[in-house]
Amino acid sequence: MKVAFFDSKPYDEEFFRPYSNESLKMKFFETKLNEDTVSLASGYDVVCAFVNDTINATVIDKLYEFGIKLIALRCAGYNNVDLKHAKGKIGVVRVPAYSPYAVAEHTIALLLTLVRNTHKAYVRTKSFNFSLNGLLGFDLRGKTVGVIGTGKIGSIFAEICKGLGMHVLAYDKFPNESLDLEYTTLEYLFENSDVISLHCPLTEESYHLIDKNAISSMKNGAIIINTSRGALINAEALLEGIRNKKIGGACLDVYEEESELFFEDNSNLIVNDDTLALLMTMPNVIVTSHQAFFTKEALSNIAQTTIQNINEFLSTGKSQNEVI
Ligand code: NAI
Repeated sequence: MKVAFFDSKPYDEEFFRPYSNESLKMKFFETKLNEDTVSLASGYDVVCAFVNDTINATVIDKLYEFGIKLIALRCAGYNNVDLKHAKGKIGVVRVPAYSPYAVAEHTIALLLTLVRNTHKAYVRTKSFNFSLNGLLGFDLRGKTVGVIGTGKIGSIFAEICKGLGMHVLAYDKFPNESLDLEYTTLEYLFENSDVISLHCPLTEESYHLIDKNAISSMKNGAIIINTSRGALINAEALLEGIRNKKIGGACLDVYEEESELFFEDNSNLIVNDDTLALLMTMPNVIVTSHQAFFTKEALSNIAQTTIQNINEFLSTGKSQNEVI
């Protein structure tokens, strides 16, 4: 069996390579999978793809033509795959949970950084500037956090927030009554939260969930955190909200147009995304490069589950982690 990995980085190879053997051969392509690169998949049985690979109808048709049996996503989200088109042609499996703690903990790290200005203090003290001017923060205890999406990650994030003494409001399309959470409407959550954190998947329905209208209904100075998927937020509306000070700050681990930028070193390039460029100049916006998942535990679980998914699907034609 031959597996072609796309958008692979040295750390992917480090965690997957130990599983390779005579009957499971691996090829690691650095390039992303898309219409221009799909021909590289010819001669393989499985493609292993990641969040910013483009697996649209054209790519799926080509993969099918090459005899690819399975698209093994080494991530949880699958919004980059045209599932309707893949159905009946190629199996699609994913890693539903590799470390929800990694993402929830990164979300808290971003929030604490923003509200205590640690990002500014780090840079300042490197040049022996020990002034406190401009670093004034606020306590999270007693503040209200609105959690949108209370699945694996959102529910852990909510528990951590409770541990900090925050009041938690929750919204989910399918509320989980077994969780000790105060579910409310999206409108109420927007109107009453000091911090809003996104943990729902990107779907047609949740696309631009945070737009101009949503922002105008929020509390003045509300903080928005997105460690889920970029297109949940209309970035231009967010920029406008930051500029007119309606929004008190934003922590973004994901960005709508991230696919060409994130995970890569673009420091020598002229970045043509004016919205991102302006967001980056704001002192109260923190951007990380889709790194919330990036822990040793998560990478180890991703490799183990992906290999298990591939073996299971190829030997039985099914997998418990098949995306329907
Ligand atoms: P999950 O499937 O356990 O939970 C998602 C929750 O969102 C479910 O409770 C579901 O009912 C709810 N939901 C679905 N549609 C909704 C809507 N329109 N409005 C409100 N809630 C809705 O997923 P999990 O593992 O908690 O992951 C959440 C998201 O985090 C993923 O969809 C993925 O996009 C993102 N993610 C980001 C990572 C990163 O490194 N930044 C890593 C892993 C996941």
